[in-house]
Amino acid sequence: MSATVPDSFDVIVIGAGPGGYVCAIRAAQLGMKVACVEKRATLGGTCLNVGCIPSKALLHSTEHYDEAKHKFATHGVVVGEVSFDLPQMMKHKADVVGANVKGVEFLFKKNKITWLKGAGSIPAPGKVAVDGKEYAAKHIVIATGSESIPLPGVEVDEKKIVTSTGALELETVPGHLVVIGGGVIGLELGSVWKRLGAEVTVVEFLDRLAPGLDAEVGKQFDRVLQKQGMKLKLKTKVTAAKVTDKGVDLTLEPAAGGAAETLSADIVLLAIGRRPYLEGLGLDKVGVKLTPRGRVEVGPHFETNVPGIYAIGDAIDGAMLAHKAEDEGSALAEMLAGQKPHINYDAIPSVIYTWPEVAAVGKTEEELKAKGVAYKVGKFPFTANARARAMAETDGFVKVIADAKTDQVLGAHIIGPDAGTLIAELAMAIEFGASSEDVARTCHAHPTLSEAVKEAALAVEGRALHI
Ligand code: FAD
Ligand code: NAI
Repeated sequence: MSATVPDSFDVIVIGAGPGGYVCAIRAAQLGMKVACVEKRATLGGTCLNVGCIPSKALLHSTEHYDEAKHKFATHGVVVGEVSFDLPQMMKHKADVVGANVKGVEFLFKKNKITWLKGAGSIPAPGKVAVDGKEYAAKHIVIATGSESIPLPGVEVDEKKIVTSTGALELETVPGHLVVIGGGVIGLELGSVWKRLGAEVTVVEFLDRLAPGLDAEVGKQFDRVLQKQGMKLKLKTKVTAAKVTDKGVDLTLEPAAGGAAETLSADIVLLAIGRRPYLEGLGLDKVGVKLTPRGRVEVGPHFETNVPGIYAIGDAIDGAMLAHKAEDEGSALAEMLAGQKPHINYDAIPSVIYTWPEVAAVGKTEEELKAKGVAYKVGKFPFTANARARAMAETDGFVKVIADAKTDQVLGAHIIGPDAGTLIAELAMAIEFGASSEDVARTCHAHPTLSEAVKEAALAVEGRALHI
């Protein structure tokens, strides 16, 4: 370590994922002296190295392949035999990751943030230890992220039984990929390998995929994925996995109990959720309290029970999403600088980057019913949207949910082409406290997919124009 590294800082952030690196940048912008501890060889955390970015690179590449193979002909584009080059896809993914992690390193230099390389721990309030050296900090931020949840009886070797990290690195397309857990990771990475020719079976404990989705969207999602050839085994649990010469034999049982069956796979992807990663921080010694579910307990200003120690991102409660972690990082830095930022957790969108995409923001109908809130719903299908027809991508719909009395937008759910981009205006509507009428009266360019959002908003008052 260079002798010029100072040994005291205003803020030391532990973990350089989207929560930590954004917190470090914002704190530096606000004039604080900042260090960020990261033990990985590159900055950017799970998201940039083994999460959002590499998975989206592979999703995008395989989408192109799938289009060339199955969709070009509709548009009168004739290509010869379509094939793919897996090493090139993997190289593209590695290049994208490389550019992004170097980008964060550049931003650290630009903002004069010291990268303390190594694993950090908190020996006492106000102190962070890295590689045997201690640094003092007025404020310490835990932004150490999350890791894959293990399943007893299914031992991950990252070769035949993999987590998302291994599933992003497979050297050949598996004949049969069995995904344990029908959540976001399983469906996105299952889609990647399905498009490249793998048979994909998703084993899900519950009676539906991605259980947090609006029920109507969820139903359509199940149908679309099955139409694409994904096999679903719902209400089923995996109780054992035996690695064989050929692959893996899984023991499956009905979730409610009953006769077991064996399912053979070449590769098994374990994706039953993620849990906070707090190993080696020494939180028990310093007395930082955890929630019953093992996340760091924080108050409204991200403060733990130990003064001067804060936590953000996947390490604390809430959705494990990169943009949620980023917003928390930014808000915390502003709070430390004496500002009063606010995060509206009802306005945080979530997106599943399959094709079609699935996107949501705010409340589902089920949540509103459970709370006894009276609401109105407007829906518009992509079959009636001119641009979706031109694209030959008409699966799905937009649904806008508004308060029955005030018309304020409470939630929005989209399954369809580019749903992840379309949800942004509805997140903004919720952030601004807009009514469905505000969205409906906003001029949307023609012909765009976003007109389906306007039409769904018009449909809240029963006055959609094109259906
Ligand atoms: P992380 O990104 O996990 O970063 C924590 C960092 O802390 C790591 O680099 C780790 O090495 C470091 N660290 C841990 N302990 C220490 C220590 N003691 N000392 C030093 N360093 C330490 N979210 C989305 O919003 N969109 C997506 O498309 C998306 N796709 C995903 C795909 C996959 C396959 C996975 C696994 C996740 C995906 N996520 C996605 C979730 C997203 O990656 C996380 O929500 C996000 O990375 C959380 O950010 P974070 O800063 O809290 O933690
Ligand atoms: P998840 O929580 O999305 O899904 C896990 C699924 O596994 C659930 O449907 C659950 O019912 C099921 N399950 C749990 N235990 C099971 C068992 N024993 N057998 C069978 N099924 C079981 O978790 P996932 O997919 O691992 O992703 C982790 C997190 O990473 C997500 O919660 C999300 O926050 C983040 N992520 C976000 C992405 C995005 O924003 N596009 C992409 C990938 C990950």
